[in-house]
Amino acid sequence: MPEARSPVPDEHWPAYYAVTVGRPAWGTTIDAAERFAAADGPGAPPRLAVDLGCGAGRDSRELLSRGWRVLAVDLEASAIDALEAATPEQDRERLQGLVADLAGFEVPACDLAIASVSLQLLSEDDYTAVLRRVTAALRPGGRFAGLLYGDRDESAGEPGVTCLSPGAVRGLLADYEIESWFEREEDGRTALGDPHHVHLIEVVARRR
Ligand SMILES: C[S@@+](CC[C@H](N)C(=O)[O-])C[C@H]1O[C@@H](n2cnc3c(N)ncnc32)[C@H](O)[C@@H]1O
Repeated sequence: MPEARSPVPDEHWPAYYAVTVGRPAWGTTIDAAERFAAADGPGAPPRLAVDLGCGAGRDSRELLSRGWRVLAVDLEASAIDALEAATPEQDRERLQGLVADLAGFEVPACDLAIASVSLQLLSEDDYTAVLRRVTAALRPGGRFAGLLYGDRDESAGEPGVTCLSPGAVRGLLADYEIESWFEREEDGRTALGDPHHVHLIEVVARRR
């Protein structure tokens, strides 16, 4: 079931991380990882992913389990704590957790950038600036895997939430080949069980 949220008090996040820490990675992250695996032979050096707004790290831990190096970034220290606590010992040396605001985060050169239900929490200016920095940071053939709030989401128009139209998202990804695009719109629930009309854009795109 898709997960969405509106801005709520800070105590929201520990509850969110407790619920999501055991959940599987999003399909977009798995899709992107499998596309890299199909091109990389066995024994290829580990690739680097940056998880933007990692939360409890469902995507980060999936990539770590596949041998990736991961830089996991979140504004909340409790997110990084939850991710590190849930990361198996054998994967920890390939994980770097970072408490930082995406609004000012300089994305390092990487193979994959993930943003799973996180960019909507930025202002539109910061959202587009983050994607510009991702585009500049991706190595040739690098990918962006995103779960992005669409403009028919129930949160659209709420203060502090940025929900872009599919056309606007495609515009921001003009320097990419779209490899997978799926729009999910339904009456669902948030991770914490509240009813929510969800409009999510699930995209995997390869930097040209
Ligand atoms: C809905 S959660 C999604 C977490 C994770 N990607 C997942 O799919 O489970 C959004 C995350 O974005 C983080 N976040 C929100 N604004 C942020 C910002 N300005 N900089 C960094 N992280 C931010 C929140 O702390 C939260 O962990």
